[in-house]
Amino acid sequence: MKLFIDTAIVDEIREVNDMGVICGVTTNPSLIAKSGRKFEDVVKEITTIVDGPISAEVTAKDPDEMVEQAKPLAALHKNIIIKIPFNKEGLIACKKMTALGIKTNVTLIFSAAQALLAAKAGATYVSPFLGRLDDIGTDGMNLIEEIVDVFDADPAIETEIIAASVRNPIHVIQAARLGCDIATVPYKVIMQMLNHPLTVNGIAQFDKDWATVPKD
Ligand code: G3P
Repeated sequence: MKLFIDTAIVDEIREVNDMGVICGVTTNPSLIAKSGRKFEDVVKEITTIVDGPISAEVTAKDPDEMVEQAKPLAALHKNIIIKIPFNKEGLIACKKMTALGIKTNVTLIFSAAQALLAAKAGATYVSPFLGRLDDIGTDGMNLIEEIVDVFDADPAIETEIIAASVRNPIHVIQAARLGCDIATVPYKVIMQMLNHPLTVNGIAQFDKDWATVPKD
């Protein structure tokens, strides 16, 4: 399973990219707002950091307007993926963008039925939001499993699944075990994946013991 980072904070992207663990970035309007910067500026800067798919979301409501919003974004860099909120208009926009050769990530997926429709409309990626399902007392991981099964059962589907709304390292590992293609992971969760107290204690013990080794 590939790992993307889910953030619009370029310092976080740079740090995690330097670690060699991510190969893509997802943003959304809320994450862009949190960055406090202009949308195009952030997206353009991300393209200079990560050489992989970078999702940038359209906010128009009409399919043709979504396409018009997508064109200059897609023209910014070959790696830009246009994120489209799932609904009827979004599916129409997805079909149009696919015909234009623009890659898409259909987002705010909360059922396997929605994921299947997005795949049929030509989505390059679908983004099921597992954490937000957990938040309302539903097991979000069941959704990932269902979509993996549905896509695996249809050889015509090339759409990749991005486990989104990831809240903890367990989400990442479970998605990987289910055969999900990608997990997009917030910076905080990548840091949680990095840390283990036994590793920290182990390094401290090695340093302590090394200090007692004769050097000459
Ligand atoms: O980028 C989409 C998704 O990952 C957002 O997650 O934490 O706002 O539910 P969250």
